[in-house]
Amino acid sequence: MHMRKKKWARPELDACPYFIADPQTVRNHWQEQFPVARPLCAEFGCGKGVSTAQMIRNHPEFNFIAMDISPDVLGDARRNLEAAFQGEPIRNALLSRCDLARANMFFGPEDQLERIILSFSNPWPKRRHEKRRLTHPRELMQYREFMADHAEIHFKTDDPELWLDSQVYFHVCGFRPLFRTDDLHASGYTPNYITEHEARFMAEGKPIHFGIYQKTSLPGPINPTLWQMPNRADLPSDLFGPFSDTPITEGGEIHDAQNFGRA
Ligand SMILES: C[S@@+](CC[C@H](N)C(=O)[O-])C[C@H]1O[C@@H](n2cnc3c(N)ncnc32)[C@H](O)[C@@H]1O
Repeated sequence: MHMRKKKWARPELDACPYFIADPQTVRNHWQEQFPVARPLCAEFGCGKGVSTAQMIRNHPEFNFIAMDISPDVLGDARRNLEAAFQGEPIRNALLSRCDLARANMFFGPEDQLERIILSFSNPWPKRRHEKRRLTHPRELMQYREFMADHAEIHFKTDDPELWLDSQVYFHVCGFRPLFRTDDLHASGYTPNYITEHEARFMAEGKPIHFGIYQKTSLPGPINPTLWQMPNRADLPSDLFGPFSDTPITEGGEIHDAQNFGRA
């Protein structure tokens, strides 16, 4: 959908104390942009930040970086943040504009992100556009570079093709699923922050796929530029489900997928 340009968005962002106009200048130094150091969580493609604003308000234990390529939607995200905080100072959020196809220009190994949120990333249904997906190995292999060990990616989509292909992307890039469901709203997973696109798909009666993927070691060498989707027959049979809604037990400890603030 084409959005009409918002003349007010850029001036409001330029005047916003928590807007980072040149994200490449703070590469490896994101944590220092916050008054207090806390685990870093970045949302890639935050859009208007309808749900992001509420999530940031409810989780002062994280420092959030909400990013999008469009200054117009970031203008809305700023207004939504202001509305959610109701005049209270906003200390655990930064907004920034960047093209995440080149994520490693804006983040470096020192940034040690603990969580990346991808909600309703553009599905790019044509095979020739597949590399533009924010879960494609070309992206995931960049994210690995600046994510902490055992850090997580939280991924939501309504799109069945993107969802199934992404199971392969996560697998070949060494991200293991901790939690997966084909119907987020029926799964009991909380807290779930309903995004603008999610509300739209809910109204259409579409189920929402959701997964949490943890960075582990790479299963083998991979060249993300030359990588091609393998035949499904050559992949582990459980990769495409059925997905259990039960959090996986690891080393005797239940992964608490219910708790956003799990440290
Ligand atoms: C379908 S919208 C989803 C927005 C929001 N997360 C939601 O769920 O309502 C996808 C968003 O990703 C942004 N986006 C797409 N490609 C991007 C890229 N390469 N870098 C940064 N943002 C991107 C778009 O501008 C758009 O705001």
